[in-house]
Amino acid sequence: MTSLSKTSRIGFIGAGKVGGSLAVAMSQAGYPVVAVSSRTPASAASFAERIDGCVPYTTLQAAVDAGDMVFISTSDDAIPQVAQSVKWREGQGVAHCSGAASIDVLEAAGEQGAIPGAFHPLQAFSSVENGVGSIPGITFGIEGNDDMRTYLGNLARAIGGNPVFLDAEDKPLYHLSGVMMGNLLTCLVGISAEIWEHIGYTRDDGVNALIPMMQAVAYNVETSGIPAAVAGPYPRGDLGTAAKHLNALTSQHPDLLPLYRELALAGLHLAVEQGLSKDGETAFRQLLNDSRKIE
Ligand SMILES: NC(=O)c1ccc[n+]([C@@H]2O[C@H](COP(=O)([O-])OP(=O)(O)OC[C@H]3O[C@@H](n4cnc5c(N)ncnc54)[C@H](OP(=O)(O)O)[C@@H]3O)[C@@H](O)[C@H]2O)c1
Repeated sequence: MTSLSKTSRIGFIGAGKVGGSLAVAMSQAGYPVVAVSSRTPASAASFAERIDGCVPYTTLQAAVDAGDMVFISTSDDAIPQVAQSVKWREGQGVAHCSGAASIDVLEAAGEQGAIPGAFHPLQAFSSVENGVGSIPGITFGIEGNDDMRTYLGNLARAIGGNPVFLDAEDKPLYHLSGVMMGNLLTCLVGISAEIWEHIGYTRDDGVNALIPMMQAVAYNVETSGIPAAVAGPYPRGDLGTAAKHLNALTSQHPDLLPLYRELALAGLHLAVEQGLSKDGETAFRQLLNDSRKIE
């Protein structure tokens, strides 16, 4: 492998939210981002406008040829097709940014002698403007051979992130932890806020009421850790309160009963770690499991 270093020229294919955010962060950290190409020339042009020395190319091949290291930051489904559609050089580096896919999707590049890698930022990116500032402190899931791990690990640290090194079989569980924290937690926010529609308010009222709690939860987890940050009736041992929840769900919102029950059961061990007695745990488990009978 050509040894990759901070002076290796970087090309991007895919000028979207993640590619744009990473490229700006890399450039700010002194890594030369010299080329970009994307499906739409206008996307590549606006990507390049943000970065000194970056040239937008109309063909993917031109961007690949310009880079010693190429990041494929297209949608997940396009990665194998992009890898197949261009010619790679022996020893050239190529990494995708997907958390769910492993480096296997770069097989076509590997067959031509390129060295595959994966560089996944464990963060939710909704725009380049917000994305660049959201990189410091995040984790990067990295795959590849030893040289690729060294290069991508150094790159992650240079842009303020923390690398973790993964094998292909780890990727689905690694990625779903992020999806539970990003996508599904946001769904839980929406679902929790919609409960307010049953008590005479709107979903937005619910969101506004719950935001300070969400912020306190993040702060408590950061400062006190798990399990100390877990608050509420379960670690307190308030069985009667949990029973009220189950009754209310059964009569007023039965569709949410399975979600509530399974979340409470899945997290009960954290209440035990905090000091909930064995008897308390058994009683909660029985109460929650009994609610299956009334569904
Ligand atoms: N968004 C997140 O929160 C997040 C977080 C971590 C990792 N990721 C990963 O990062 C990657 C990119 O995600 P994203 O959110 O940045 O997506 P995005 O904003 O939709 O950007 C994807 C970019 O790739 C371009 N593209 C799509 N198909 C292409 C093709 N066949 N050839 C060339 N360019 C193509 C798009 O086209 P145009 O040129 O038409 O604009 C777009 O600019 C994905 O692998 C995703 O799993 C995303």
